[in-house]
Amino acid sequence: MRKTKPLYEGKAKILWETDSPGRMVQEFKDDATAFNGVKHEIISGKGVLNNRISSHFFTLLNEAGVTTHFVEKLSDSEMLVDRLEMLPIEVVVRNVAAGSMVKRLGIEAGRRFDPPIVEYYLKDDGLNDPILSEEHVTALGLATHELLAEIRTAAIKVNDILTDFLDERGIRLVDFKLEFGLKDGCLVLGDEISPDTCRFHDKTSDRIMDKDRFRQDLGGFIEAYNEVLDRVSS
Ligand code: TMP
Ligand code: ASP
Repeated sequence: MRKTKPLYEGKAKILWETDSPGRMVQEFKDDATAFNGVKHEIISGKGVLNNRISSHFFTLLNEAGVTTHFVEKLSDSEMLVDRLEMLPIEVVVRNVAAGSMVKRLGIEAGRRFDPPIVEYYLKDDGLNDPILSEEHVTALGLATHELLAEIRTAAIKVNDILTDFLDERGIRLVDFKLEFGLKDGCLVLGDEISPDTCRFHDKTSDRIMDKDRFRQDLGGFIEAYNEVLDRVSS
């Protein structure tokens, strides 16, 4: 298998076409961005850490019966994935109030949600990824009722699996973002699952172990990502 040409470059990853039909290489970059790209830094080592952490999570999910695009880890910063037709929706699952939800609704950070809350956002940087109701998703033709129900079920299953796995390793899964696509008409989990796309808090100290360290200028960014990798691979 050989990389042929870059198909898509995002803020944190590059997707490469390959000479293997239906397969792509997902390369993780060292770029860290926040606030829709307004804050941007290169953090050496971030790509390698996110590739390793994401590879662990996707392997766990594949083994638990969730259909994901992950095939195998190829190198330090690259994984082989199935090519999907991506849905322009960011699916966020929240177990604990944090981030934009706290700002939008004026609620206290740290409030627990049981059952968890599933939210949908339109993946459109020009519009600043606005939040969508389920009716928006279906009325805009982004997904049918049936597909949306499948997305929701898959997101909750991912949450159950990751919450238990991380809990055993002393990490509270506060919230996370997923992106799905279709392959041969079937729903498949794509993108990445990393401290860039999740909020991880240490269960005992409440220490932040995710991209909020960058968003809030807390320092200790690479140390936190390294610690997530250590715990996830233990
Ligand atoms: P939020 O609180 O900013 O809406 O973020 C919710 C979760 O989604 C959090 O774990 C971070 C993740 N996320 C992304 O992966 N990409 C994004 O562009 C945003 C805004 C959030
Ligand atoms: N990923 C988004 C950006 O690059 C926002 C975020 O994760 O906070 O701006």
